[in-house]
Amino acid sequence: MVLPSVVEPCDFTVFGGTGDLALRKLLPALYLRDRDGQLPEGFRVIGVSRAEADDEAYRVMVRDALTQHVRPQDLDEDVVGRLLGRLHHVTLDIEEIGDWHLLHARLKEGAPGEDVIRVFYLAVAPALFGAICQHLDEVGLVTERSRVVLEKPVGSDLASARAINEAVGRVFDESSIFRIDHYLGKESVQNLLVTRFANTFLEPLWNSRWVDHVQITAAETIGVGERGAYYDRSGALRDMVQNHLLQLLCLVAMEPPTYVDRETVRDEKLKVLQALRPMTPELVDRDVVAGQYGVGLCDGSPARAYVDEVDGPSDTETFVALRTEVQNWRWAGVPFYLRTGKRMPERVSEIVVVFKEPPHAMFPHSEGPTEPNRLHIRVQPDEGMQLHMTAKEPGPGGIRLRPVSLDLSYEGAFGTRSPDAYERLLMDVVRGNTTLFMRRDEVEAAWTWVAPILDHWSRPTHRPRRYPAGTDGPAAATTLIERDGRSWQETA
Ligand code: BG6
Repeated sequence: MVLPSVVEPCDFTVFGGTGDLALRKLLPALYLRDRDGQLPEGFRVIGVSRAEADDEAYRVMVRDALTQHVRPQDLDEDVVGRLLGRLHHVTLDIEEIGDWHLLHARLKEGAPGEDVIRVFYLAVAPALFGAICQHLDEVGLVTERSRVVLEKPVGSDLASARAINEAVGRVFDESSIFRIDHYLGKESVQNLLVTRFANTFLEPLWNSRWVDHVQITAAETIGVGERGAYYDRSGALRDMVQNHLLQLLCLVAMEPPTYVDRETVRDEKLKVLQALRPMTPELVDRDVVAGQYGVGLCDGSPARAYVDEVDGPSDTETFVALRTEVQNWRWAGVPFYLRTGKRMPERVSEIVVVFKEPPHAMFPHSEGPTEPNRLHIRVQPDEGMQLHMTAKEPGPGGIRLRPVSLDLSYEGAFGTRSPDAYERLLMDVVRGNTTLFMRRDEVEAAWTWVAPILDHWSRPTHRPRRYPAGTDGPAAATTLIERDGRSWQETA
């Protein structure tokens, strides 16, 4: 196994340091990197929040979070102690300039020097991104070696995304802005690039001549839980489609870059976003389905309706299914079907590339069914790939055709745990590598494409279709694909 390289000392400051994302994802990820020896002496983590907590109280809170969110077999008391020793907490009210000076003083105190790498991770509402950057600049915390991380969503529509990008861009150079989409840090998503471009056999087939259509699914069993206040203003289109699903689509559809670096990969993804068929009100009505879960059974337990979770009437969608096309030479006429939802029967994210039928059916149908070849790329859980093909059933008495699959499980092949996406991405931030982060033009292109859907859904008559929790979404999602003579691939 290749050992990860130790990063440089850094002051890793998390705004929203006591929030859900920090406690559930960021601090466990830093713990695991510390456990694997990637954090050097002098690497400090500073949680910033409005909470009146001193360093000790924050350490208690983080210890509790690690116990909850790190697998017991990965918890090592010595490493927990070491990580807690790196932790500090600063209470800050954004409006209070005195608090910013305090933050400045805390960061100066004990820092190895003015040129220490400073990461400012903004795990807070996007409306605060601009103001935080401005204050950081005013108190002199931004240097050549400072980087800012923007949690998604960047904005809630094109105009707000542009305003945020402008405001953050006044303080940080684009090369120091890390717009995070954690799907890009998933091992299986990075492997998609390798599968496509480090092998030769797929590329000749990867086009409209041989591919019938592509399906991309990100299904979750959870509801909105404690995140109702955020989610109800967002919905599945902003929360999942505008970023995670479109990023997956880009990686499936992009042209091979000349080499892998921060600009070439992002240039190719941008071209895909720009080639997506623009939505019109007619297309939204025809090709986009919004759903919202009602009561039902999920994971074997009764699940509440979305409106009960957010405590009130709401037309926010918790499910989206849509059909689009990439209007370029490679993909002309190939539908891409995307769907995502909460309170689905299974937690699964998967890309399925469905190939065309063989041009000539030389085996009589009476001797067995044939199914088109399909490549399933399993993003999570059980990361891996399956190639579904047709084989002859062994034995005499004529040729009987049977579907079979070639299975690749990453865990089976490599015998190792896939790190959480945040582990990889946080280290990339410290190293200054923006390849797996979204560039400004990508984010804005994605918002440009979803804008007509948001506009059309903002009409007072728009209502998402109800579906019972624990089911595959509204019937209209099935109709969307079946009217093209196709069907959703089983993900379970
Ligand atoms: C986040 C969304 O970006 O991704 C959540 O805000 C969603 O609503 C989550 O649950 C899904 O991530 P993962 O890694 O569990 O598929």
